[in-house]
Amino acid sequence: MILDDVEHLLHERIGLDAGTVGASGLNFALKQRMAACAVTDPAAYWRRLTATPQELQELINAVIVPETWFFRDPKAYAAMADRGRAMRVPDGPANGRPLRLISLPCSTGEEPYSMAMALFDAGFAATDFAIDAVDISTRNLTTAAHAVYGRNSFRGADVEFRDRHFNAVEGGHRPHADIRRQVRFRHGNLLDPVAADVPPYDVVFCRNLLIYFDRDTQERALDRLDRLMAPHAMLVVGSGEAGLPLMRGFASLRIPMAFAFAKPAATKPAATKPAATKPAAGNSGPKPALRMPAARPAPARAHTPRPAVVPLPVAAPVPAPVAPPGNAAADSLAAVERAANEGRLGDARQAARRHIEAFGPSAAALYLLGLACDADGAAVEAVEAYRKVLYLAPDHGEALAHLALLLRRQGDVAGAKALGDRLRRLEKRSERR
Ligand SMILES: C[S@@+](CC[C@H](N)C(=O)[O-])C[C@H]1O[C@@H](n2cnc3c(N)ncnc32)[C@H](O)[C@@H]1O
Repeated sequence: MILDDVEHLLHERIGLDAGTVGASGLNFALKQRMAACAVTDPAAYWRRLTATPQELQELINAVIVPETWFFRDPKAYAAMADRGRAMRVPDGPANGRPLRLISLPCSTGEEPYSMAMALFDAGFAATDFAIDAVDISTRNLTTAAHAVYGRNSFRGADVEFRDRHFNAVEGGHRPHADIRRQVRFRHGNLLDPVAADVPPYDVVFCRNLLIYFDRDTQERALDRLDRLMAPHAMLVVGSGEAGLPLMRGFASLRIPMAFAFAKPAATKPAATKPAATKPAAGNSGPKPALRMPAARPAPARAHTPRPAVVPLPVAAPVPAPVAPPGNAAADSLAAVERAANEGRLGDARQAARRHIEAFGPSAAALYLLGLACDADGAAVEAVEAYRKVLYLAPDHGEALAHLALLLRRQGDVAGAKALGDRLRRLEKRSERR
C-alpha cells in the first residue's frame, strides 16, 4: 500500500522516521494532499508524488513537525553569546571578523530570531554577526519571512524580550527590522551533502530534528553537522538529544542546560553499524549537494554604539549555577545530568538510580536514567525508565519520542506507531494552545 512507500520515500529524502509522527499523522497529511490535488486513487497520487518535486515538497510541508518558540532552552542562547564573544577577541579563532552562525532547522524563524536578539542583548553590533537559517519546509520558511508571531511562539515565563525587540502588528508581534536583517533564510536539507565551498560556521544550532531520525540517519546528520563546523565551533542540540553527539565523538562543553558540544576529535567512534538507507521508493534521482549559504559581507549600516564586550578565555566552561543550600535533590539531579553530558554513561546510570532511591521517582530523574541507558546500549532498562516517565508525566514529549524510536529499533512497530500517534496528538494540542 502506498503508506509504506511514502514512509520509505520520506525516510530516504528527509530522514523522517515515520514512527515518530505516527501512522495517523502520515495518513492525515496524505489525505490532505490527495484532496488538494483532487486525486482519489492512491496509486495515481503515488505517481504524481514521485514524478513532481513540487508535490513531494507539499507533502513534506504537510507532514513535518514545526514545533518551536522563542528562547526555547534559554541557556543555549546565553552560552552562544559567551562563546561567540570569546571567539572574536583579538587572536581568538574568529579574530574580530563577523561570526557565522546557522540555525538548521530553523522552522518558522523563532530560533534564528532569538539568536539575533540574544547577541544584540549581549552587546554585539549588527556588523559582528550574520545568521543563516535553513529548513526543509517551504511553508515554514514563508512564515519565517512574514515574521508575525502569535501567543504560541512566546511560551516561557519571561517574555520581557518581546517589549524590547517586537512591534505589535495585526495578528501578533513582529521582530524589529534590525533583528530581521541579521537572518537570511534558505531552503535546504540537512541530509544533503555539504558543498565543498561552504565556509564553516562558528555556531551551529541543530535542535529538535535529530529526535525524528532513526539511529543511522542521526549518525549521517551528525557527520553533516561536523562538516559545517569550524574547528573551534560550538554545536547546540535539543534537550532530548544531548546523548546523540556524544555517541558520535562530539565533546560536551559542560554548560548546564545548554546542550552544547565541540567538534569530534579527528578520529571519531565507528558507526554502530554501517549507514544503511532504506530501499528507495519511486524514482528519486540523485540529490543536489546542500548549497549552504556562502559567507556574506557583514551588513553595512549604522548602528547604535553598544557596551564594550568583555573577553572570555575561549575554553572557559561557564561555571555551573550554585544551588541554594539544602537543595540536595537538585544537586543530585545536576550530577546525573553532568555525568550523562560528559559521556560517563555508567556513572550517570548509577547516579540516577541513587537519586531515585534517595528522593523518590520523578519524571526528570527517570528520563535521565532512560537517556543514559539508551546511550549505553541498555535498551531494556531504557524502555522501562521511559515507560515510568510516561506514567508520571503522560505528556512528556521527549520520552514519547525516545521510547517510540527504541521500540521501533526493537521491531515493535505497532508499539512505536501508537506512541508516535500519541506524540502527534500532543503536538497538535500544544499548537492549538
Ligand atoms: C521541531 S522543529 C525544530 C525547530 C527549532 N530548531 C527548535 O528547536 O525549536 C523541526 C524542523 O525540522 C525541519 N526538518 C525536518 N527534516 C529536515 C531536514 N532533513 N533538513 C532540514 N530541516 C528539516 C522541519 O521542517 C521542522 O521545521
